[in-house]
Amino acid sequence: MARQTPLRAIRGMHDLLPDDSARWQQLEDRARTVLEGYGYKEMRTPLVEQSELFKRSIGEVTDIVEKEMYSFEDRGGDQLSLRPEGTASCVRAAIEHGLLDQPRRIWYRGPMFRRERPQRGRYRQFHQIGVEVFGLTGPDIDLEVILLTRRLWDALGLTDLRLEINSLGDSAERAVYREQLVSYLRPHEDRLDDDSRRRLDSNPLRVLDSKNPDLAELIAEAPSLTDALGSESREHFEALCSGLEQAGVAYQVNPRLVRGLDYYNRTVFEWITDALGAQGTVCAGGRYDGLVEQLGGKATPAVGFALGLERLLELSQTEPPPSVDAYLIAVGEQASAAAMAIAEQIRDALPQLRLVCHCGGGSFKSQFKRADRSGAKVALVLGDDELAQQRIGIKPLRVSAAEDPHAKTEQTSVAIDALADRLPDFL
Ligand code: HAM
Repeated sequence: MARQTPLRAIRGMHDLLPDDSARWQQLEDRARTVLEGYGYKEMRTPLVEQSELFKRSIGEVTDIVEKEMYSFEDRGGDQLSLRPEGTASCVRAAIEHGLLDQPRRIWYRGPMFRRERPQRGRYRQFHQIGVEVFGLTGPDIDLEVILLTRRLWDALGLTDLRLEINSLGDSAERAVYREQLVSYLRPHEDRLDDDSRRRLDSNPLRVLDSKNPDLAELIAEAPSLTDALGSESREHFEALCSGLEQAGVAYQVNPRLVRGLDYYNRTVFEWITDALGAQGTVCAGGRYDGLVEQLGGKATPAVGFALGLERLLELSQTEPPPSVDAYLIAVGEQASAAAMAIAEQIRDALPQLRLVCHCGGGSFKSQFKRADRSGAKVALVLGDDELAQQRIGIKPLRVSAAEDPHAKTEQTSVAIDALADRLPDFL
């Protein structure tokens, strides 16, 4: 058969290749350690939900729902969407499984899907780690989730992130502000771009979020949402600010921070970097006290955030540790025949050891080359002579005598039975 044209991955959706997976795992492991350290438990929800779920939560008049969802009718005629984010699914699941009977701290990770225009830091399939807390009114819990993110940046060695926060008030306060904003913007309608003009009627707060530089001045002079807040919202926000100060977290209040999803109220926040160009928000979230009820559950306060793994990985410079400890080389008829069984014995004795067993034969030289390329710290060397004496060689592959004159670089022969005791010294 003639060779066919190879197919390619869908634009904006990326393969995670074997050489990159260690960095992802390291980031995920560190995040999990921090999250578990605050008592958060992982939840996993399906990648596909009813489209209605996202329309009712994220909002009909948002970029995500209007333009970016991957939606389709399945063979049974149901309207489904690939999840564009995790909050709606978490709320749906929490209601469905009766999790709202007590405060819950939940986290999740996984791919999300938005049909945005792909560019650096913006993909159509991307990955989030997110947190949702149910049943706590804050502001203490708002502070906790922000402190948790700061600890994450420390764990990932990230230093150049800045925190922006704002309060969106409650729905009554926003309604008042909405009118003020529309009265301010209406006379300038001709200066607005198409999106903003449409939003002026449907979702005017989102005009504040416009990235169009031509609108920057108009937006800068708009009335401030902060001035429309009532005393409870103000106190909530002030308590959060003073908590941040006490904990030594630097922040900026950004009164134009409104977020692109409709479910927020009161606290919203974003962690931003200047190092990634236009897609500088690496983590974002806030409070959404009305969403549970809006999705059919009993009124339950909630707060959460999600961070973008691709963006964080691009920022973090950490080198992951080597993923292979030892590479077993076997040359000679008996040694080759026995190698797999001996590898199993070694794995029994050292369950933590990451051991690659050479396959496919070849000379010592070619097997050493493979061992070196595997990134292993040591080669375990088995020849017929060693096998006859039930011994095995340990040859360090990574230490140069120039760097460490006392380092063992020579091959050391040990009894196979003693390998479990001796090998850790070489790793
Ligand atoms: P979001 O702001 O839409 O919020 O997304 C959170 C983070 O996901 C962003 O700050 C960014 O790092 C990453 N992200 C979003 N879209 C893309 C993309 N196309 N490519 C790469 N990374 C992206 C939410 O999703 C809310 N559910 C957060 C939340 C949880 N609020 C309360 N709880």
